[in-house]
Amino acid sequence: MSHVAGRALTVVALAAAVATGCGEASEPTALSVPLLPGSPTSPDVSEPPPLHPDRVAAGEELYQAYCAQCHGLDLAGAPDWQVPNDDGSFKPPPQDGTGHTWHHADQLLLEIVSVGSNFPQSRMPAFGDQLSDDQIMAILDYFKSNWGRQERAFQWEQTVRARGGS
Ligand code: HEC
Repeated sequence: MSHVAGRALTVVALAAAVATGCGEASEPTALSVPLLPGSPTSPDVSEPPPLHPDRVAAGEELYQAYCAQCHGLDLAGAPDWQVPNDDGSFKPPPQDGTGHTWHHADQLLLEIVSVGSNFPQSRMPAFGDQLSDDQIMAILDYFKSNWGRQERAFQWEQTVRARGGS
């Protein structure tokens, strides 16, 4: 496996996080994702940036149109999502704080949603042809608005590290 430094850190931090089977499934692909629109230039690791209510609302609308049929109208994921399917594939996990999306940095989440997962048995479609990076980030903002303080702080730290911050 070869990772850039930021990703290696993410993987280390992931190993320390609650292991729910998402690690292998969502290993980063080799693509590099540019800094995101609206990213703060001097991130404060301790304090995740506030979410803009309009972006959260736009993200919710996109989520209901593109993602809810698998991840649930209320972000709760598929029933028994922690039990893999017989063929080794995974069921759609929740996108609220009870899932594991918050374990991953923005850069990796954007990549998974836009390009798809490099997990061979992935059932997660790639949305790069249908959704812009900015739209995907708005959906992520909607997820974040449903995470608790600790999940948000953890995910923000991963994002800062993946950017090469400290
Ligand atoms: C056809 C069903 C389906 C649709 C539609 C779908 N997903 Fe997924 N998604 C999955 C499955 C199944 C997984 C579990 C991992 C895998 O199979 O790669 C997943 C995994 C993910 C993950 C990774 C979670 C983690 O912690 O590793 C993210 C993020 C995600 N989906 C976001 C989205 C977003 C955003 C949309 C809408 C734009 C969406 N998904 C639409 C089925 C779907």
